Amino acid sequence: MHVDFEKLRMSGAGKAIAVLTSGGDAQGMNAAVRAVTRMGIYVGAKVYLIYEGYQGLVDGGDHIKLANWQSVTNIIQLGGTIIGSARCKAFTTREGRLSAAFHLVQRGITNLCVCGGDGSLTGANIFRSEWSDLLSELVRQGRITDSLAQQYTHLNIVGLVGSIDNDFCGTDMTIGADSALHRIMEVIDAITTTAQSHQRTFVLEVMGRHCGYLAVVSALASGADWLFIPEAPPEDGWEDHMCARLGESRSKGSRLNIVIIAEGAIDKHGQPISSNYVKDLVVQRLGYDTRVTVLGHVQRGGTPSAFDRVLVSIMLLCIRVARLIVKRLRP
Ligand code: F6P
Repeated sequence: MHVDFEKLRMSGAGKAIAVLTSGGDAQGMNAAVRAVTRMGIYVGAKVYLIYEGYQGLVDGGDHIKLANWQSVTNIIQLGGTIIGSARCKAFTTREGRLSAAFHLVQRGITNLCVCGGDGSLTGANIFRSEWSDLLSELVRQGRITDSLAQQYTHLNIVGLVGSIDNDFCGTDMTIGADSALHRIMEVIDAITTTAQSHQRTFVLEVMGRHCGYLAVVSALASGADWLFIPEAPPEDGWEDHMCARLGESRSKGSRLNIVIIAEGAIDKHGQPISSNYVKDLVVQRLGYDTRVTVLGHVQRGGTPSAFDRVLVSIMLLCIRVARLIVKRLRP
């Protein structure tokens, strides 16, 4: 794709864009904040950082800060998000969104970049669709003038899918999924050494309430013996099949078993399959020394992979924001 950088420069002059991170943090969110800020400044727009996710938008004040080039220096290598994230209840209410609209329009911000997962981006879309209603209500309440509402009639939203779960349709990789996988692989590789020393079975629980991507890829990449994911509940009688498989592997000379289970794994009847249930099963049926390791938030921690660091820059250049800034930004 050809990008005319000269045409791009200053094409956003007089406009304002804000960026926030929302929901569960993901490695690469800082790279997203950096990329949006610097691209925004490059095109001559005012860029605002919103702290603590949607809560910062609802609260306004010091939670919305004008950024400069240096504000995002040396953050590309950091995990988490330096502007904070939250799962915000207030923004799910109309009252909360009214307050958020007020804080944006006050600053002339009509372009909002949200880096978050499913819930966060659904919230952004509701906000966008309600925008003109919200402004009318603010006028009725006397909080903004009619001319201000006329000036800022449209809210542009850009969603950057930030979630380790890789659970969003229409995008191959969400921001953070690659780093989380690296983290998981480090743990599985570490566990493998101790497991084989003691001839143990390990049941490893990875994140993913509704999506088994992390479980599937880590199972493939580690050569695991068995896998549970929410999208593919096992047929009744899976206990027999799994135990047979684990036993077969041992009888062929393997000194360990690895079972990967996504946290949202269920059976055919919608009942959760817990790691402890699997562990007890292996102990009772096969008598193998078995341990459970729940990886938990370790998967969301640590530094982002190279892929996650550059993903957003590529997204911004190649997909939407550049076009949006050039062609669709409205005052
Ligand atoms: O959506 C990302 C995710 O990490 C899920 O995989 C996990 O189920 C959930 O967030 C955990 O949320 P919290 O950090 O609120 O415990």
